[in-house]
Amino acid sequence: MKVDVLFTLNEPIDSDHPCTVVVVDVLRATSSMTMALASGCKEVVAFSSIEESIEFASELGSCDYVLAGERRGDKPEGFVLGNSPQEFTKQVVDGKKVVFTTTNGTVAINRCKGQKRVMTGCFLNASAVLKRCIELGEDVVVMCSGQDGRFAMEDTLFAGFLSSELSDLGACLTDAAQVASMLYRLNSKDIRGALRGTDHGRYLCELGYEEDVDFCAQISRFDVVPFVCGNVVRC
Ligand code: MLT
Repeated sequence: MKVDVLFTLNEPIDSDHPCTVVVVDVLRATSSMTMALASGCKEVVAFSSIEESIEFASELGSCDYVLAGERRGDKPEGFVLGNSPQEFTKQVVDGKKVVFTTTNGTVAINRCKGQKRVMTGCFLNASAVLKRCIELGEDVVVMCSGQDGRFAMEDTLFAGFLSSELSDLGACLTDAAQVASMLYRLNSKDIRGALRGTDHGRYLCELGYEEDVDFCAQISRFDVVPFVCGNVVRC
């Protein structure tokens, strides 16, 4: 098994073998999706734009969906939920579709259209994703959503977690995966502190979302593995 890491969503997926792509947006899109699916939401439908999300939602019955997402970290006007994972509770999302648009995470998911096997990961479902990668036994490509096309440390830390665990089991790491793995090993004892110290972590704290950052730092709280088909994410 080979493990590769794409530090941004603009890097091409380059694998000669069947591979599992793991899309990561630790702060906060894939963390919110994990929480939503763990809370019984039927599926998350991921859109790149607010307009597409509103258009899609307008075709659904009002009890069937929850419109959620963010721009610049905050809930867009008219949306029911923002992008705080703790808000995706059973009371709000159980049995519903979450129509979701975020700045980077949902864009990354849409970039993976055409890939055979795509899942989403974050620290909240770290062990479950690792276990599934091991069971599948294919090459793994971790796509970090990053921030506006740039490197984001929080996503690389999660990519480093997967790389380092899989390497311990004998996987071969690309240069990018080796760097991610080293970064994770340096920070593994204090993921909460590391997330708070990232550019986006600091930005979210300034906006008053420090609870979200701490929530996203919980390791393996949920045993769900979201799989992506087109732009639909389900367990
Ligand atoms: C994104 O997709 O860019 C994010 O999840 C941003 C955020 O809400 O923190």
